[in-house]
Amino acid sequence: MRIEGAAALVTGGSRGLGAALGRRLARDGARVALVAREERELQAVARAIRAAGGEAHALAGDVGDAPSATALAGAAAALVGPIDLLVHAASTLGAVPLRLLLDTGDAQMERALAVNVTGPFRLTRAIAGSMVLRGRGLVLHVTSDASLVPYPRWGAYGVSKAAFDHLARIWAAELDGTGVRFLSVDPGEMDTRMHAEAVPEADRTTLGDPAVVAERIVRLLRRAESIPNGARLEVTGTAAASGQGKAS
Ligand SMILES: NC(=O)c1ccc[n+]([C@@H]2O[C@H](COP(=O)([O-])OP(=O)(O)OC[C@H]3O[C@@H](n4cnc5c(N)ncnc54)[C@H](OP(=O)(O)O)[C@@H]3O)[C@@H](O)[C@H]2O)c1
Repeated sequence: MRIEGAAALVTGGSRGLGAALGRRLARDGARVALVAREERELQAVARAIRAAGGEAHALAGDVGDAPSATALAGAAAALVGPIDLLVHAASTLGAVPLRLLLDTGDAQMERALAVNVTGPFRLTRAIAGSMVLRGRGLVLHVTSDASLVPYPRWGAYGVSKAAFDHLARIWAAELDGTGVRFLSVDPGEMDTRMHAEAVPEADRTTLGDPAVVAERIVRLLRRAESIPNGARLEVTGTAAASGQGKAS
């Protein structure tokens, strides 16, 4: 896809990978609407992007909250125009510290599903119709290896990310031929707040840099038309050469 002049909506845009993607996309000429719950942090990212000459807007909202999806989709389109690129980077671990399924409460499982599956579903549904009418659009799901590997204690998150992967594949199958494409990307382990909350004892020097991951993801987005619709790819943010988009 062409990034220059594209209208992008990026959830999870206040820090970590979402913020890095917002900065990278804006640097390449996209008009970016960023979503997260905490407004101050989000506004700071948008301000920094504007100070660097890009276009960015902050939209405070909770993707796990039902009425928010339509409101966020409408507000984003009003600010940057009909959305060409929707990035689902916001996510929750469900329960911190991570715990066994036997110790996971209903509310923790339901919250993981609401933020990581139902919210992205609603947001895509609110935006994909306009993409179909215009015959183009790309929806990026930021996933995790926890969607494939049954790591003990990552139950709520892993289950929700597995459903999130399948959501992308079903959207891709249903909208195939309309010009609207879906892509899932596993960014590997990154040095972010989410990782610190999940694995506080991790050696941060071994973790990927979200800015490097964002760079490699944008490279993938640029050649999205050559990638099978609904594919799931892996990217890493460590120094090792990557970004070739290994399918899994
Ligand atoms: N870090 C890793 O090692 C790793 C590995 C594999 C996959 N991932 C995936 O990468 C993506 C980005 O994660 P990250 O590590 O960059 O996390 P992060 O630094 O903790 O950032 C998470 C972002 O999501 C927002 N967010 C969380 N809940 C939200 C909600 N209910 N509504 C709206 N925004 C919400 C946060 O802002 P607020 O808190 O203000 O809402 C923040 O902007 C996630 O999808 C994650 O599953 C991360």
